[in-house]
Amino acid sequence: MRAVVLHAFGPAENLRYETVPDPMPGPGQVRIAVRAAGVHLVETMMRAALEGVAMPPLPDLPAIFGGEVAGTVDLVGEGVDPSWAGRDVVTSAGRPGGYAELAVADLGSVHRVPSGLGYEAAVAMVVTGSTTLQLLDVARPVAGDVVLVTSAAGGIGRLAVQYLRDLGATVVGAAGGPAKVAAVRDLGADLAVDYDEPSWHKAVAEELGGRAVTLVLDGVGGDKARAAFELIADGGRYVTIGAASKQDFQPDPETLRARGITATNALLILIGRPEDRPRFEARALAETAEGRLVPAVQSFPLEQAAAAHAALESRATTGKVLLIP
Ligand SMILES: NC(=O)c1ccc[n+]([C@@H]2O[C@H](COP(=O)([O-])OP(=O)(O)OC[C@H]3O[C@@H](n4cnc5c(N)ncnc54)[C@H](OP(=O)(O)O)[C@@H]3O)[C@@H](O)[C@H]2O)c1
Repeated sequence: MRAVVLHAFGPAENLRYETVPDPMPGPGQVRIAVRAAGVHLVETMMRAALEGVAMPPLPDLPAIFGGEVAGTVDLVGEGVDPSWAGRDVVTSAGRPGGYAELAVADLGSVHRVPSGLGYEAAVAMVVTGSTTLQLLDVARPVAGDVVLVTSAAGGIGRLAVQYLRDLGATVVGAAGGPAKVAAVRDLGADLAVDYDEPSWHKAVAEELGGRAVTLVLDGVGGDKARAAFELIADGGRYVTIGAASKQDFQPDPETLRARGITATNALLILIGRPEDRPRFEARALAETAEGRLVPAVQSFPLEQAAAAHAALESRATTGKVLLIP
């Protein structure tokens, strides 16, 4: 098969499109002819082997990155009902990696693609969608909340804005640049702001009039997270899911105590609850099939995985980034 292989940690160009041996399904596994595979920002950080940034352990090289794939079962392993062959499936755990034409997965990790849902929407939801729902489950927003979402035009951000809008919360979406801000506004955010503008947080405070932010959902970290945190009313909540800026932001414990603000690292909670993942994956797929959540995708041909990484690293993407074999 053709796959994207990393032989040396470093820049995006190190991702090479090559021919590698076809994976074969073992007992209890299926093989998937991949139609769409997901890419994560953290994979760009792993590819570059960045130091001082929280990320999963680096793989041994050569490695095929990724793991979330949607496609058609083309082979079944020993002990698997042959009727699985030909079915459209999606998994978060494709091996030896997702950036490939073929991937094998344990049957227990596989979901049927709900009817009416394409491969791209299914693969966009299986990890990024389920993570969004888990993040919201931790954050527990209510209709009366004023919620500030950072990276609001991103994979998680767009889905969070939709969910919060439908919940009846007041949604403030912050994103970088006019095009992303317009996308956030189109999603129905009550307020969409460009947080690349230095005084963006002042504009948010002004636009909200007398109301204050009660909940921040942040995946960016750094100065943007700090400015978002400072908008939170006494008694509010700050929930983080990551640090896209590669800059950690830790609210000052004394400020948290004095102002009655709670700070929660949702990512640590999610990592500690792997048993919840299949349930949230299934829910994310169902919510999308039923039209309640609509993922946006930005697709690149598989052989252009390096361009996909470069686009993610330069903040040039919106929605979920996919590779299409
Ligand atoms: N997707 C998941 O399943 C998942 C799981 C666990 C954790 N997370 C974390 O949650 C956060 C959001 O994830 P996502 O998948 O939805 O990503 P994403 O928002 O689709 O992509 C990254 C976005 O982060 C913003 N960003 C700000 N500073 C950046 C920088 N220095 N470099 C690159 N991007 C920067 C950019 O949006 P602007 O231009 O609008 O700033 C960029 O488009 C990330 O921290 C991610 O690591 C995601």
